[in-house]
Amino acid sequence: MTPPSTPESSGTDVVDDADGVTIVRVTERAQLERAWDVRTEVFVHEQHVPLEEEIDDLDTAESTTHVLALDDTGGAVGTGRLLTDPAHPGEVHLGRLAVRAAARGQGIGARLVVAIEALALAEHAVTRDGPETGGRPRLAVRVVLSAQEVAMEFYRRLGYEVVTGERYLDAGIWHQDMARTVVS
Ligand SMILES: CC(C)(COP(=O)(O)OP(=O)(O)OC[C@H]1O[C@@H](n2cnc3c(N)ncnc32)[C@H](O)[C@@H]1OP(=O)(O)O)[C@@H](O)C(=O)NCCC(=O)NCCS
Repeated sequence: MTPPSTPESSGTDVVDDADGVTIVRVTERAQLERAWDVRTEVFVHEQHVPLEEEIDDLDTAESTTHVLALDDTGGAVGTGRLLTDPAHPGEVHLGRLAVRAAARGQGIGARLVVAIEALALAEHAVTRDGPETGGRPRLAVRVVLSAQEVAMEFYRRLGYEVVTGERYLDAGIWHQDMARTVVS
Protein backbone atom coordinates (compact mmCIF):
# COMPACT_ATOMS: atom_id res chain seq x y z
CA MET A 1 0.00 0.00 0.00
CA THR A 2 1.35 3.42 -0.89
CA PRO A 3 1.52 5.72 2.13
CA PRO A 4 -0.66 8.82 1.78
CA SER A 5 1.19 12.04 1.27
CA THR A 6 1.05 13.84 4.58
CA PRO A 7 3.09 16.80 5.82
CA GLU A 8 4.69 14.40 8.30
CA SER A 9 5.93 11.95 5.72
CA SER A 10 7.20 14.35 3.09
CA GLY A 11 10.40 16.30 2.62
CA THR A 12 13.74 16.05 4.28
CA ASP A 13 12.52 15.30 7.79
CA VAL A 14 12.13 11.61 7.05
CA VAL A 15 14.76 9.68 8.98
CA ASP A 16 13.68 6.16 7.99
CA ASP A 17 11.02 4.86 5.61
CA ALA A 18 10.44 1.13 5.13
CA ASP A 19 7.76 -1.56 5.34
CA GLY A 20 4.89 0.90 5.69
CA VAL A 21 6.39 2.72 8.69
CA THR A 22 7.96 6.15 8.34
CA ILE A 23 10.05 7.76 11.06
CA VAL A 24 10.14 11.54 10.90
CA ARG A 25 11.76 14.26 12.89
CA VAL A 26 9.17 16.48 14.56
CA THR A 27 9.28 20.00 13.17
CA GLU A 28 5.79 21.29 13.93
CA ARG A 29 3.70 21.75 17.03
CA ALA A 30 0.95 19.49 15.61
CA GLN A 31 3.46 16.64 15.31
CA LEU A 32 4.66 17.20 18.87
CA GLU A 33 1.05 16.93 20.02
CA ARG A 34 0.79 13.58 18.22
CA ALA A 35 3.91 12.42 20.06
CA TRP A 36 2.29 13.52 23.32
CA ASP A 37 -0.83 11.48 22.39
CA VAL A 38 1.31 8.35 22.05
CA ARG A 39 3.16 9.04 25.31
CA THR A 40 -0.07 9.77 27.16
CA GLU A 41 -1.55 6.46 26.01
CA VAL A 42 1.59 4.48 26.88
CA PHE A 43 3.05 6.14 29.96
CA VAL A 44 0.03 7.81 31.58
CA HIS A 45 -2.81 5.39 30.82
CA GLU A 46 -0.84 2.12 30.60
CA GLN A 47 1.96 2.72 33.11
CA HIS A 48 0.19 5.25 35.39
CA VAL A 49 2.88 7.94 35.22
CA PRO A 50 1.29 11.24 36.33
CA LEU A 51 0.58 13.45 33.28
CA GLU A 52 2.32 16.42 34.94
CA GLU A 53 5.53 14.36 35.18
CA GLU A 54 5.25 12.89 31.72
CA ILE A 55 4.98 16.14 29.76
CA ASP A 56 7.78 18.44 30.90
CA ASP A 57 9.56 21.66 29.90
CA LEU A 58 12.29 19.72 28.08
CA ASP A 59 9.67 18.72 25.49
CA THR A 60 9.60 22.27 24.12
CA ALA A 61 13.26 23.17 24.72
CA GLU A 62 15.18 24.34 21.64
CA SER A 63 17.81 21.68 22.36
CA THR A 64 15.31 18.77 22.25
CA THR A 65 14.56 16.69 19.15
CA HIS A 66 11.52 14.41 18.88
CA VAL A 67 10.87 11.64 16.39
CA LEU A 68 7.52 10.17 15.41
CA ALA A 69 6.76 6.79 13.81
CA LEU A 70 3.83 6.87 11.36
CA ASP A 71 2.06 3.81 10.01
CA ASP A 72 0.85 3.42 6.43
CA THR A 73 -2.33 5.35 7.18
CA GLY A 74 -0.34 8.27 8.62
CA GLY A 75 -1.30 7.34 12.20
CA ALA A 76 1.26 8.04 14.92
CA VAL A 77 2.30 4.73 16.49
CA GLY A 78 5.55 5.56 18.28
CA THR A 79 7.82 8.31 19.48
CA GLY A 80 11.04 9.12 21.29
CA ARG A 81 13.09 12.17 22.17
CA LEU A 82 16.72 13.24 22.14
CA LEU A 83 18.00 15.66 24.80
CA THR A 84 21.23 17.58 24.43
CA ASP A 85 23.16 19.78 26.80
CA PRO A 86 25.86 22.21 25.58
CA ALA A 87 27.74 21.49 28.82
CA HIS A 88 28.22 17.88 27.66
CA PRO A 89 29.35 17.86 24.02
CA GLY A 90 29.40 14.44 22.43
CA GLU A 91 26.78 13.09 24.81
CA VAL A 92 23.00 12.94 24.36
CA HIS A 93 20.10 11.47 26.29
CA LEU A 94 17.51 9.22 24.64
CA GLY A 95 14.16 9.11 26.39
CA ARG A 96 10.36 8.92 26.33
CA LEU A 97 10.54 5.96 23.93
CA ALA A 98 7.05 4.59 23.42
CA VAL A 99 5.23 2.41 20.90
CA ARG A 100 1.46 1.97 21.10
CA ALA A 101 0.64 -1.50 22.44
CA ALA A 102 -1.09 -2.54 19.21
CA ALA A 103 2.03 -1.73 17.17
CA ARG A 104 4.64 -3.47 19.34
CA GLY A 105 6.78 -6.41 18.28
CA GLN A 106 7.21 -5.19 14.70
CA GLY A 107 10.60 -3.54 15.09
CA ILE A 108 9.27 0.00 15.43
CA GLY A 109 10.85 0.61 18.85
CA ALA A 110 14.23 -0.56 17.57
CA ARG A 111 13.92 1.65 14.48
CA LEU A 112 13.09 4.66 16.65
CA VAL A 113 16.28 4.06 18.66
CA VAL A 114 18.34 3.73 15.47
CA ALA A 115 16.77 6.91 14.05
CA ILE A 116 17.60 8.86 17.22
CA GLU A 117 21.15 7.50 17.15
CA ALA A 118 21.51 8.62 13.52
CA LEU A 119 20.38 12.15 14.38
CA ALA A 120 22.71 12.18 17.39
CA LEU A 121 25.67 11.08 15.28
CA ALA A 122 24.90 13.57 12.50
CA GLU A 123 24.37 16.56 14.78
CA HIS A 124 26.04 15.99 18.16
CA ALA A 125 29.14 13.87 17.59
CA VAL A 126 32.64 14.94 18.57
CA THR A 127 35.98 13.52 17.50
CA ARG A 128 37.12 10.78 19.87
CA ASP A 129 40.23 8.66 19.87
CA GLY A 130 40.16 5.68 22.16
CA PRO A 131 39.12 2.04 22.51
CA GLU A 132 35.53 2.84 21.53
CA THR A 133 36.72 4.31 18.19
CA GLY A 134 39.11 1.47 17.45
CA GLY A 135 42.19 3.45 18.46
CA ARG A 136 41.90 6.09 15.73
CA PRO A 137 40.14 9.47 15.63
CA ARG A 138 36.51 9.16 14.60
CA LEU A 139 33.28 11.02 15.13
CA ALA A 140 31.39 9.51 18.03
CA VAL A 141 28.46 10.27 20.30
CA ARG A 142 27.61 8.63 23.60
CA VAL A 143 23.88 7.93 23.93
CA VAL A 144 22.75 7.54 27.53
CA LEU A 145 19.30 6.53 28.69
CA SER A 146 17.33 5.71 31.78
CA ALA A 147 15.89 2.26 31.07
CA GLN A 148 12.86 0.83 32.76
CA GLU A 149 14.13 -2.48 34.10
CA VAL A 150 11.48 -4.35 32.08
CA ALA A 151 12.89 -2.74 28.91
CA MET A 152 16.58 -3.38 29.63
CA GLU A 153 16.74 -6.48 27.44
CA PHE A 154 15.27 -4.47 24.56
CA TYR A 155 18.11 -1.93 24.87
CA ARG A 156 20.73 -4.63 25.44
CA ARG A 157 19.83 -6.16 22.08
CA LEU A 158 20.50 -2.75 20.54
CA GLY A 159 24.02 -2.61 22.01
CA TYR A 160 23.39 -0.68 25.22
CA GLU A 161 25.25 -1.58 28.39
CA VAL A 162 24.47 -0.96 32.02
CA VAL A 163 26.39 2.07 33.34
CA THR A 164 26.64 1.42 37.10
CA GLY A 165 24.00 -1.19 37.88
CA GLU A 166 22.45 1.13 40.44
CA ARG A 167 18.65 0.93 40.35
CA TYR A 168 16.32 3.83 41.19
CA LEU A 169 12.63 4.64 41.17
CA ASP A 170 11.32 7.22 38.71
CA ALA A 171 7.55 7.78 38.61
CA GLY A 172 7.25 4.64 40.72
CA ILE A 173 9.03 2.48 38.10
CA TRP A 174 12.45 0.82 38.60
CA HIS A 175 15.11 2.12 36.21
CA GLN A 176 18.82 1.69 35.50
CA ASP A 177 21.12 3.85 33.39
CA MET A 178 22.40 2.33 30.15
CA ALA A 179 24.64 3.76 27.42
CA ARG A 180 26.19 3.05 24.06
CA THR A 181 28.77 4.94 22.04
CA VAL A 182 27.75 5.32 18.40
CA VAL A 183 30.71 5.73 16.06
CA SER A 184 30.65 7.03 12.47
C1 LIG B 1 9.97 -0.92 24.85
C2 LIG B 1 9.18 -0.65 23.57
C3 LIG B 1 9.47 0.78 23.09
C4 LIG B 1 9.67 -1.66 22.50
O1 LIG B 1 9.01 -1.32 21.27
P1 LIG B 1 8.69 -2.47 20.19
O2 LIG B 1 8.31 -1.77 18.94
O3 LIG B 1 7.73 -3.45 20.73
O4 LIG B 1 10.11 -3.17 20.06
P2 LIG B 1 10.69 -3.94 18.79
O5 LIG B 1 9.60 -4.67 18.09
O6 LIG B 1 11.49 -2.99 17.98
O7 LIG B 1 11.67 -4.98 19.50
C5 LIG B 1 13.03 -5.13 19.16
C6 LIG B 1 13.55 -6.38 19.82
O8 LIG B 1 13.48 -6.24 21.24
C7 LIG B 1 12.64 -7.26 21.81
N1 LIG B 1 11.88 -6.61 22.88
C8 LIG B 1 10.98 -5.63 22.77
N2 LIG B 1 10.53 -5.28 23.98
C9 LIG B 1 11.17 -6.08 24.87
C10 LIG B 1 11.16 -6.20 26.28
N3 LIG B 1 10.38 -5.41 27.04
N4 LIG B 1 11.95 -7.13 26.85
C11 LIG B 1 12.75 -7.91 26.10
N5 LIG B 1 12.82 -7.83 24.75
C12 LIG B 1 12.04 -6.93 24.15
C13 LIG B 1 11.77 -7.71 20.66
O9 LIG B 1 11.34 -9.03 20.88
C14 LIG B 1 12.71 -7.60 19.49
O10 LIG B 1 13.59 -8.71 19.48
P3 LIG B 1 14.13 -9.31 18.10
O11 LIG B 1 15.01 -8.26 17.48
O12 LIG B 1 14.87 -10.53 18.52
O13 LIG B 1 12.93 -9.59 17.27
C15 LIG B 1 7.66 -0.87 23.75
O14 LIG B 1 7.47 -2.14 24.28
C16 LIG B 1 7.00 0.16 24.66
O15 LIG B 1 6.61 1.24 24.21
N6 LIG B 1 6.84 -0.20 25.94
C17 LIG B 1 6.17 0.67 26.91
C18 LIG B 1 6.96 1.93 27.16
C19 LIG B 1 8.35 1.64 27.64
O16 LIG B 1 8.57 0.81 28.49
N7 LIG B 1 9.30 2.41 27.07
C20 LIG B 1 10.69 2.27 27.42
C21 LIG B 1 10.98 3.22 28.52
S1 LIG B 1 12.65 3.03 29.09
